[in-house]
Amino acid sequence: MKLLSLPALFRSFSLRTFFSALLLSMVCAGYAQRSEKAGITTEQKIRALISEMTLREKVSLLHGNSKFNVSGIKRLGIPEWALSDGPHGVRAEVNRHDWAYAGWTNDSATCFPPGTALAATWNPALAYKQGLVLGEEARFRKKDILLGPGVNIIRSPLCGRNFEYMSEDPLLVSRMAVAYIKALQSKDVAASVKHWLANNQEEHRDSVDVTMSERALREIYLPAFKASVMEGGAYTVMAAYNRFRGEWCSENDYLNREILRKEFDFKGVLMTDWSAAHTTVKAALTGLDLEMGTDKKDYNEWYFADPLIKAVEEGKVPVSVVDEKVANVLRVMFHTKVFDEQKREKGIMNTAEHQQAAYNSAAEAAVLLQNNGKLLPLHFDKIRSIAVIGDNATRKHCSGGLSSEVKTLYEITPLQALQQKFGAQVKINYAQGYEKQSTFREGNNSGQSGSSKVNWKLIDEAVALARESDLVLFFGGLNHDFDTESSDKQNMDLPYGQEILIHEVAKANPKTVVVIIAGSPVELAGIVHRVPAIVWSWFGGMEAGNAVVDVLSGKVNPSGKLPFTLPVSLAQSPAHALGNFPGSNLKVNYEEDILVGYRWFDTKKIQPQFPFGYGLSYTNFSISHFSTDRTSYGKNETIRVKFTIKNTGSVYGAEVVQLYVSDPVCSVLRPEKELKAFQKVFLKPGETKTVEIPVKVADLAFYDESKKAWNTEAGEYILQLGNSSRAIFQKIKISVK
Ligand code: BGC
Repeated sequence: MKLLSLPALFRSFSLRTFFSALLLSMVCAGYAQRSEKAGITTEQKIRALISEMTLREKVSLLHGNSKFNVSGIKRLGIPEWALSDGPHGVRAEVNRHDWAYAGWTNDSATCFPPGTALAATWNPALAYKQGLVLGEEARFRKKDILLGPGVNIIRSPLCGRNFEYMSEDPLLVSRMAVAYIKALQSKDVAASVKHWLANNQEEHRDSVDVTMSERALREIYLPAFKASVMEGGAYTVMAAYNRFRGEWCSENDYLNREILRKEFDFKGVLMTDWSAAHTTVKAALTGLDLEMGTDKKDYNEWYFADPLIKAVEEGKVPVSVVDEKVANVLRVMFHTKVFDEQKREKGIMNTAEHQQAAYNSAAEAAVLLQNNGKLLPLHFDKIRSIAVIGDNATRKHCSGGLSSEVKTLYEITPLQALQQKFGAQVKINYAQGYEKQSTFREGNNSGQSGSSKVNWKLIDEAVALARESDLVLFFGGLNHDFDTESSDKQNMDLPYGQEILIHEVAKANPKTVVVIIAGSPVELAGIVHRVPAIVWSWFGGMEAGNAVVDVLSGKVNPSGKLPFTLPVSLAQSPAHALGNFPGSNLKVNYEEDILVGYRWFDTKKIQPQFPFGYGLSYTNFSISHFSTDRTSYGKNETIRVKFTIKNTGSVYGAEVVQLYVSDPVCSVLRPEKELKAFQKVFLKPGETKTVEIPVKVADLAFYDESKKAWNTEAGEYILQLGNSSRAIFQKIKISVK
């Protein structure tokens, strides 16, 4: 008998039936290994499984059957799929059919510092470690998909979800996201990159129509998604609630078919955000695979349930389209070894190593903004008494923020850490100083109202304590009534009268260190001239207190850098200067275009409070010998950038060296500078390192709307090396032919 090739075998009907039954038995019985040996590809296994399914079975894989699960098909050995929030810790178990927590006693998890804190480390190795830990904990909880990372750009200081996102700069977000995704997925858990696309505000997030130029889309808002899919290999993507250029993101042909499927060659699952589906036929034909969270009790009534079956029967949706969606689901299942429990990551929760990883991120995230007279680090052996002031000294934050909240095993507050580390030798007194007046209510910022009331009784107590102490440690900033999903901040103020409190306390004791705990910009103009030292320590996850106290004491030398520009006032910020946040009549056009964050401040020559990429250290670094391997390059070549960095101080530390590029003569407006590479370098005192970073000439391109393509124009470019967007040490001119 003539031996047939595999495709030929599939073409021969009777053999195909036999063969798919064989494949099926292999898949169902968990004999993936045997089928691999037999040379059967994943795609063939997927087709074999699909060929055995009824239409109803296929459709059952395309919509939720509870808050966070999707049905399996028992007779074919396809298990139920389990999804879970969220980006910085595996969320506690939610009831199957409502949003209440299930009350499990074994679902406490490791809580990492959220997105902006992770980005402030500028250390992708920490994002990688976080991905590994999240993967292990998700698997321990038997989850298949983790709903993160959130890679939307921080467009306005007010967006409630800035704390979950990472940065205003697409390169910084991309580097962190790729590392996170690769690590997470190496533990057999699919990432879900969210929120695709332009979910840059929470106000009217479920109805607002976002428009922006093609160039802003390509240069600012797409890159992190592109890197997550094409470089990180993300298995799933979550479509946002909002509309983009008139169409819902969950049924947006341009975004979902043209860009995601065709340009990015995405072969995974495109799911909705929870309750972001709007239609059956249109969504089915424009690339959506999985409907989640729809607010209808009967799951059969969801858009991708009975109505999809009907649409197929009526010929409105070809069955081949349904098959493609099922194939996408099965492909993710194969990638994450769903059919091969033996080989699959078993997972582990709450290990000391996991907690250490959370600590490391929190410690590296802290940004030293100001340190007049070298007040920091504190020499606790010379301090007799400390007045610890502020609600955030005792407040726990892991359980806030809505979908990203984590029921953490423990959370160390700053006051606890101080008492535990120095309580025996230093008198530590606490005064609340200000009162948390707000309460979080979903959706309408109402919890934030009345948050400017000043409580003079608390201020007087704090002032008295400050006066009688050697030093003041003030812990203030925001909490998750402000930094939260589902509503935006109303302004950039420090709430609850903290500014007045800080003034009074600093008058009573000039040795006042302010620690800001927040996940998005707040106005510091009123306090920078009143206190000598300011540390930005973010929401720090379960190890928050330990990390910030180690930074204050000098056990850890701060090495975090701002992942966003800190404006003097909201009015400086591009979307607000131009009056297009949060839009009007449910429409918002991103008029600042590509000038987001420092691209705006630097181009318009506006002095911010603290620039993007900024952060001090307890040591000093000198950067020298900046060079490129040549001075002239072709468009497809790579520039080898080199520099030498020395730790000239007396303590171990790390510097984030940033390479910005500008294109002074161009046919279109280019930002004053754009970040093209960065490297965090760790150095012992006196140590010198030479660092080489490759930069592709192609990465210097702008998106040319007239050509509908990236364009690296020939001419001169200026490479600028520095340690913030406003501190450039050396420049080199190169030319592109
Ligand atoms: C959020 C998502 C989240 C989902 C499930 C939505 O409200 O926007 O980020 O993953 O809920 O909780």
